[in-house]
Amino acid sequence: MNATAHPGAAGAAKPPGGSPLPTLDVDRSDPAYRAWLKEAVRKVQADANRSADTHLLRFPLPPEWGIDLYFKDESTHPTGSLKHRLARSLFLYGLCNGWIRPDACVIEASSGSTAVSEAYFAKLIGVPFIAVMPRTTSREKCRLIEFHGGRCHFVDDPRAVYAEAAALARRTGGHYIDQFTYAERATDWRGNNNIAESVYHQLRLERYPVPAWIVATAGTGGTSATIARYIRYMQYDTRVCVADPENSCFFEGWRDHDPAARNDRGSRIEGIGRPRMEPSFVPGAIDRMMKVPDAASVAAVRALELAIGRKAGGSTGTGLWSALKIVAEMVGEGRPGSVVTLICDPGERYLDKYYSDAWLAEQGLDITPYTMAISAFLATGRWPC
Ligand SMILES: Cc1ncc(COP(=O)(O)O)c(C=O)c1O
Repeated sequence: MNATAHPGAAGAAKPPGGSPLPTLDVDRSDPAYRAWLKEAVRKVQADANRSADTHLLRFPLPPEWGIDLYFKDESTHPTGSLKHRLARSLFLYGLCNGWIRPDACVIEASSGSTAVSEAYFAKLIGVPFIAVMPRTTSREKCRLIEFHGGRCHFVDDPRAVYAEAAALARRTGGHYIDQFTYAERATDWRGNNNIAESVYHQLRLERYPVPAWIVATAGTGGTSATIARYIRYMQYDTRVCVADPENSCFFEGWRDHDPAARNDRGSRIEGIGRPRMEPSFVPGAIDRMMKVPDAASVAAVRALELAIGRKAGGSTGTGLWSALKIVAEMVGEGRPGSVVTLICDPGERYLDKYYSDAWLAEQGLDITPYTMAISAFLATGRWPC
């Protein structure tokens, strides 16, 4: 493959928010590069073609309430989280834009789940991958990144991941894939079996096929943006609620219409809650937000295991807590209908966090009042104040 000192001359696009292209680059008109690109795109598309859709599971509620609560179980993707969809979209976007190149490293800023999925796609197309992550990222996610051939690069301050990833890309001549900027635009929100289209398809034979609410959480904000835009595009009456954990600025930024909102503490709920209003978070598309205490997220995800026999990550608990509160409102108003939330990733990744009482004690989190609130609600239909 030819190398040229003039990447711009070959018509290369420069990623607006991502890393600048390196000085030594491939010639994009080189037939060997085009053959590599074709093969890389084929491999990513073939992976999608081999994959089945994720399940829509039911959370048992008393039948007399007339309300159905569902989980879109994104933990069953090949790399175990909703980020499999995003990683696929980001790789296709980066390949088709000419940003991901043969032998050049792909670098990401992540709290772990996206990096697990991206390491998988990087290996699939044969490029090196480095994940820049907070040092507190769960050990199991780091193990999975390395299992897929990726490398972990840690920073002490979670706010430093973006600058460190961009700097690494500059140093190595790689591409900072930048999920926080590109998630909302790399995903086909109008269709192409995105998460929202899949949910509506799977609800077709249910008694309430158009849910009253879909509850999501936000890391990049890409999932909530995809769902909310799809709903508007398809003219459904569903509302979208985003549940936000304690150490995050999304709720305040959305409530105060403040794109400069900040939160200086790293989120304890891995995958969601950010220190800045991420470019992929689209506040105008979100109908409602709820701030969820971290102890409530953990209580909810443990209640999930009691109800359906499955462990999930903390962000699933954040969404479930909000979904249960919305169900309580519907019960109180005598309004039947359905509510959908997500299982974002499996709990086995967090046995030493959300399923560890020692970790809870270390964090000063008491889940007892929230566990009691959920039990009381499920027994009576009333949300205890
Ligand atoms: C476990 C988990 N849940 C939820 C989310 C939120 O998804 P999104 O980035 O689409 O907002 C993420 C994002 O990284 C995640 O890792």
